[in-house]
Amino acid sequence: MGLRQLLAGRDDTTVLTESVDPRFELPALATADESAPMVFEDVAGYPEVRAVSNLVSSRDLLADALGVERDGIIEAMSTAMDHPRALDDPVDPRFDLVATDPVLDDHVPIPVFYDEHERQYFASSIAAVVDPETGVQNLSFHRTMYDGGNELVMRMVERHLHDIYSRTEGPLDIAIVMGVHPAVELAAATSFSPEMSELEMANALLDGGLEVAEVDGIQVPADAEMVLRAHITDEYREEGPFVDLSRTWDRTREQPVVEVSALYLREDPYVRIIVPGQTEHAHLMGVPQEPRIFTIVENAIPTVQSVVLTPGGCSWLHGVVQIDKRREGDPKNAGMAALAGHPSMKKVTVVDRDVDPADPQQVEWAEATRMQPDRDITTIEHAKGSSLDPSQDYEEGVLTKWIVDATVPEHRDEDDFREVRVPGTDDVDIEDYR
Ligand SMILES: Cc1cc2nc3c(=O)[nH]c(=O)nc-3n(C[C@H](O)[C@H](O)[C@H](O)COP(=O)(O)O)c2cc1C
Repeated sequence: MGLRQLLAGRDDTTVLTESVDPRFELPALATADESAPMVFEDVAGYPEVRAVSNLVSSRDLLADALGVERDGIIEAMSTAMDHPRALDDPVDPRFDLVATDPVLDDHVPIPVFYDEHERQYFASSIAAVVDPETGVQNLSFHRTMYDGGNELVMRMVERHLHDIYSRTEGPLDIAIVMGVHPAVELAAATSFSPEMSELEMANALLDGGLEVAEVDGIQVPADAEMVLRAHITDEYREEGPFVDLSRTWDRTREQPVVEVSALYLREDPYVRIIVPGQTEHAHLMGVPQEPRIFTIVENAIPTVQSVVLTPGGCSWLHGVVQIDKRREGDPKNAGMAALAGHPSMKKVTVVDRDVDPADPQQVEWAEATRMQPDRDITTIEHAKGSSLDPSQDYEEGVLTKWIVDATVPEHRDEDDFREVRVPGTDDVDIEDYR
């Protein structure tokens, strides 16, 4: 199952037939309406390709892609992480070799998303690498900045790929994959044990399973729209500036250069566009962290109901934890566990069962009606946070975190805090009255 079947199964895709420029115009359109997938039939200068964005720019789209209810996403991902499914033998790929040592932007559009510091970026690039020590294949997203010809500069945070790369002598073989089913994208964005194969996790997440093909010893989804066979060299170049999740300019860093040796494309390929800093990017970053945070909070508070990294907090820096509060002190313990479970989290708000943690209006209502700042806000100074938070003291590399307890205070009558609703609001259907 790939992104084509996903698109075929939806009737709300916005299909744009007019020519669009991959520099600014395409990302502007993708950002202007993030409510449904958007297909660009005519990308200026690239008559052979199409582009697609906003496949999973909301929790509802994500849930649809996984075939679950919106509040079942965490459980579906946790189950797939705990029980990854072994892959069947590789099949023939549905993509073909188009060019060796390709001049990449002769073949596919590489968008420029933001002005001021113009850079061409793939923000949807997923690196597939086999760990030579364990034989387990890792998938992880790494943005790649185009540097002309067949060269890219890859942003590599110090996690699993970086670890494999630093243990490798000489160039590291990789495949870069773009345009796959969102289940593969979600799996690639999880930070779980290096022992787990993200392809096997995606295989468990996808109802009909995942077919893989092998490209020179590296397995990739057989129906990927684009695959770059490449190696990461030991040369470093300046990468960025790039607009990251915080929607502010990130700093430049010296990052490794990637040389692409072969370009594979499907016929009439879809080039997958994720606009950095916008809602789809945020969801893909945040949602895969939630099952892990949930498990850690559950250890402290078994009555935890849900964990959400909120788009307003860049789906990375702010979270909301929903609990079934049994004792005074539960919210603070839940908050501390959540901050420990996701060290990038700066603020965590704890709410009761009757407040939807994914609805910012309800969360703010709970803060407005159930909490007092002197009693219910706890700050934790000099903690390590996310490099993406520009408000921190970069010199010291630390920041202040906070826990907001927006639950009904203990020793008070719950009825005083119950939201009174107009009767029948959930049952009436306006269409019946037109
Ligand atoms: C759209 C998107 C872009 C990302 N870009 C990068 C990136 O440029 N560099 C990076 O190191 N991680 C990036 N990430 C985060 C990693 O993919 C993610 O943390 C992944 O879990 C790391 O896998 P690992 O634990 O196997 O190392 C991105 C995630 C998403 C969803």
